[in-house]
Amino acid sequence: MLRTRFTEVFGVEHPIVQGGMMWAGRAELAAAVSQAGGLGIVTGLTQPTPAALREEIARTRDLTDKPFGVNLTILPSISPPPYAEYRQAIIDGGVKIVEIAGGNPATHLPYLKDAGIKVLHKCTSVKHAVKAQQVGVDGISIDGFECAGHPGENDTPGLVLIPAAAREIEIPMIASGGFADARGLVAALALGAHGVNMGTRFLCTAESPVAQVVKEQIVANSELDTQLIFRTMGNTARVADNAISRRVVEIERAGGTFDDVRDLVAGARGRKVFEDGDLDAGIWSAGQCQGLIHDIPTCADLIARMVREAEELITGRLTNAVVAGAGVRP
Ligand SMILES: Cc1cc2nc3c(=O)[nH]c(=O)nc-3n(C[C@H](O)[C@H](O)[C@H](O)COP(=O)(O)O)c2cc1C
Repeated sequence: MLRTRFTEVFGVEHPIVQGGMMWAGRAELAAAVSQAGGLGIVTGLTQPTPAALREEIARTRDLTDKPFGVNLTILPSISPPPYAEYRQAIIDGGVKIVEIAGGNPATHLPYLKDAGIKVLHKCTSVKHAVKAQQVGVDGISIDGFECAGHPGENDTPGLVLIPAAAREIEIPMIASGGFADARGLVAALALGAHGVNMGTRFLCTAESPVAQVVKEQIVANSELDTQLIFRTMGNTARVADNAISRRVVEIERAGGTFDDVRDLVAGARGRKVFEDGDLDAGIWSAGQCQGLIHDIPTCADLIARMVREAEELITGRLTNAVVAGAGVRP
């Protein structure tokens, strides 16, 4: 058992979280992670309406009686979704954990706290983590440059970002970006975090509701198979390397604007990748930790393996290094 301040405050068995994932964070995946003792998270905006989110929350509850969360991603948008209504669907659904990402959590916090909901705020800089702590969130998920999705514009990798944040953050903090196995989990604990958040690793599990070829592509890919798009627009996103992401980068390098890539990056195209298995239909998020992913396990097997191997690492390799000294080479 790996008990940490995160497992205590958020009421889960293992310090392993499945972060919100557009199109993939559905009931089946979130419930499988929670059922295995991790924290599964349903992605709010994957549901087309707040009413559909209510149903998805009910469906998740039918699949597990363990705690699960809902992700609310606040990104700049010309026509923003009805966030307040999504938030109300979460509250009415009796969900007890919310992951907020992308924007300032302050607007939503009073409503969520009044409903007894624990708020985990995901951000990519120490500055934003400190701000979120000040406004009263219950936990921080700090996302390094390695991550899938939006790593921010500072390019700080986890190896520096996590201990830098740990120095300032007093509430439970989990490390995100580049984590895929027990070694990462133990490293995160050593760096000052109280657990890990994983996206790409959970995207590549048996219960993940994306096409099998997507999972096989992740297994085939290495740590080099990502592209950073939207760099020139100050809204960087790390996505899988494919014909479309390479094209977007080319257009940006040639001085193109968002209008020039709008069609290529449309959400509907990305959805087609996951649902139809057409790998070059659009852009899809994936992180550098693809290079650490070599199989498609069930969530239960993945989490059990990570916890078991983490314990072996701590009590074996690391303990030998300290206790046995020069006699044992870890
Ligand atoms: C397919 C996919 C979709 C994602 N969509 C979202 C999202 O909608 N909101 C969000 O906060 N994070 C999103 N993320 C980021 C993850 O929650 C997580 O922070 C990230 O994947 C961590 O990096 P890793 O992939 O190296 O584990 C997404 C990640 C993936 C792989």
